[in-house]
Amino acid sequence: MSRKIVAANWKMHGSRAMVESWIRLIRPIEGVELVLFPPVGYIGLANEILSRHAPFLALGAQNVHEAAAGAFTGEASAEMVADLGGRYVIAGHLERRRYSGESDARIANKVRAAYRAGLQPILCVGETLAERSAGEAEAVVARQLTAVTAGLNGPERTTLIVAYEPVWAIGTGKSASALQVEEMHNCIRGILSAAGDIGKDKEMTVLYGGSVSETSADGLFQGPSVDGALVGGVALDGARFMKIGESLRRAKRL
Ligand code: PGA
Repeated sequence: MSRKIVAANWKMHGSRAMVESWIRLIRPIEGVELVLFPPVGYIGLANEILSRHAPFLALGAQNVHEAAAGAFTGEASAEMVADLGGRYVIAGHLERRRYSGESDARIANKVRAAYRAGLQPILCVGETLAERSAGEAEAVVARQLTAVTAGLNGPERTTLIVAYEPVWAIGTGKSASALQVEEMHNCIRGILSAAGDIGKDKEMTVLYGGSVSETSADGLFQGPSVDGALVGGVALDGARFMKIGESLRRAKRL
């Protein structure tokens, strides 16, 4: 069975006070895994607070370095994220590709580092508007995906979570249409099952991200190939994040 997940990517937002107030708003949602990606420096604090108020909430890092330790000033490893209580890692987010120049090869190494540390990676893929207009969206996503799956073993490929995040939908207030998402998610499932010995594409978990809100969520989650969402801006508000989680539960009849 695929997993049903709603994850909050805070990006570089938050404070100690916000970690506390946000976690206090979060309630369990039947059948839905709730995940928070705060800035890495807040993971330890978040872990302490959720152990008292929301032990069902999982934590993760928005990025890790691929090495376990070393002379890499300003970086944090997957092992350190695990040590702080994190269970997930985002790899290949657009903002890492764009502002930190992360290549597909580097992202593949980060996904492997996450598995090495016992963490669950969420790989972000997605095309630009120019690539979509040129009819290259599926080819771009296929390249981003296979660059990572080529370096994974069978069990890792089966458990890899993919988030389809079209570049033109991130932070723009304009999410992709349910049809566009369904088409690309089916393409992603096809690539993943062809890449491995798996062939059980219903077991894969594929999320959508890009301007998901409590209003767009209902339509997006109707798609049978959508297992949840990676939410940025709207997820800074814990109450709105909860509404998106409830929307997923209703849509999937959990
Ligand atoms: P957004 O961000 O929801 O603000 O569009 C999504 C993301 O960057 O993962």
